[in-house]
Amino acid sequence: MSKFTGLILAAGNGTRMRSGLPKVLHEIAGRPMVNYLVAMVSRLKPERLIAVIAPGMNDVKTAILAENDKVKFAIQKQQRGTGDAVISALSQLKGTEGDVVVLYGDHPFISPETIENMLSALKSNENNAIVVLGFTPADPAEYGRLVMNSRGELEAIVEYKDADADIREISLCNSGVMAVRHGLLPKLLKQLKNSNANREFYLTDLVAIANAEGFACLAVRAEEEEVMGINSRAQLAAAESIMQGKLRRAAMGVGATLFAPETVFFSWDTIISKDTVIHPFVVIGKGTAIDEGVEIRSFSHIEGARIGKNSIVGPFARLRPGVHLADDVHIGNFVEIKKSKIGKGSQIGHLSYIGDATLGSDVNIGAGTITCNYDGKKKYETNIGKGAFIGSNTSLVAPVKIGEGAVIGAGATIVKDVKKGAKVVNVMPQKELG
Ligand code: UD1
Ligand code: MG
Repeated sequence: MSKFTGLILAAGNGTRMRSGLPKVLHEIAGRPMVNYLVAMVSRLKPERLIAVIAPGMNDVKTAILAENDKVKFAIQKQQRGTGDAVISALSQLKGTEGDVVVLYGDHPFISPETIENMLSALKSNENNAIVVLGFTPADPAEYGRLVMNSRGELEAIVEYKDADADIREISLCNSGVMAVRHGLLPKLLKQLKNSNANREFYLTDLVAIANAEGFACLAVRAEEEEVMGINSRAQLAAAESIMQGKLRRAAMGVGATLFAPETVFFSWDTIISKDTVIHPFVVIGKGTAIDEGVEIRSFSHIEGARIGKNSIVGPFARLRPGVHLADDVHIGNFVEIKKSKIGKGSQIGHLSYIGDATLGSDVNIGAGTITCNYDGKKKYETNIGKGAFIGSNTSLVAPVKIGEGAVIGAGATIVKDVKKGAKVVNVMPQKELG
């Protein structure tokens, strides 16, 4: 693989999303869309990876650095078009030797192989200046159109708004990915003008400029699913659906059973193991790892949790961030667990809230048990020793420790620590009032 620099344009306002959030931070399967590109380019080991952002886009910077802390940033002061965005990155390109691959932050699914193909097409002839990634979408809508010449080379890209009826008939469209021969960028960018419908400096005009300079430009083709752009909420939903399809196939590929795959939602980083069984209508959010033989029953919502081997979760269970279930745990219906460790073989079968707790192995939590972990100001911890039995409808007022093997009678409100092996009841004696 030859040297190259990746340049991701992410400074646009994304007005068509109608959002307070910068477009490239909208998530697909729980990951900001721009980070799919950051991860993909990083895999190809670029000389440098630069993202162009607008002033004040600190949240975009933070999100990108969380994915890869080596990314450099260029600030585009005013959003005057994709060509202007590249101009604003020229100083960051100084000192690099390879060709430059420009990617748009709103095209998250480009594959590394495609970038490799574009770079080798660029290298295939000394006279090549630019390689553009084209595709033939089912609905060409407002994509720029690729105008090819009789030699099968790319002559120009015409933006939809500037195109006449004949050009709009062209089905081959611009995906936005462009590889430019090293060293040519500054010279070509100097000639950009904003005499077009949008009064913007279009990166796409570089193709006509390079042709006029006597260079050749080429188009490499890709499938629509790979290069789709996200400009609207509808396209965001379409991208989510494509990504979920990939994640479901990957889960089944490692040996999970999904009875109704189209009703199960994963996060981009979900870890699934073989012989996991996932029933219909399950949502798995960020940061979840599921070990072998786990069964997730319907209508469960899981996020930031680690689930040990052969555990059963749900139906109707909610696991929130910081939950760690050891092996053979059983979490039943209408149980919510937050930031808690549940020991091997423990059971929380029905209607409970367990938060900020540590449970040893083989603990049995009766129906309706609540850890009262919050006094309105601070959170407190509950610790339950192995083999303890907590009767139904118990309130455990934290901070509190229940010793190993202790038994708590139904309906208790536990406000003091309970010793190992102790049996405690604290409900009022039942009286008959006549
Ligand atoms: C662009 C292409 C079009 C192509 C389409 C593919 C141009 C002129 N047009 O149109 O040919 O078919 O993508 O989706 O390039 N950006 C900046 N600074 C700016 C403007 C944009 O950084 O001043 C960034 C945006 O954040 C975005 C990307 O560049 O990530 C593309 O901009 P966008 O406005 O979405 O371009 P399109 O109109 O979709
Ligand atoms: Mg776009």
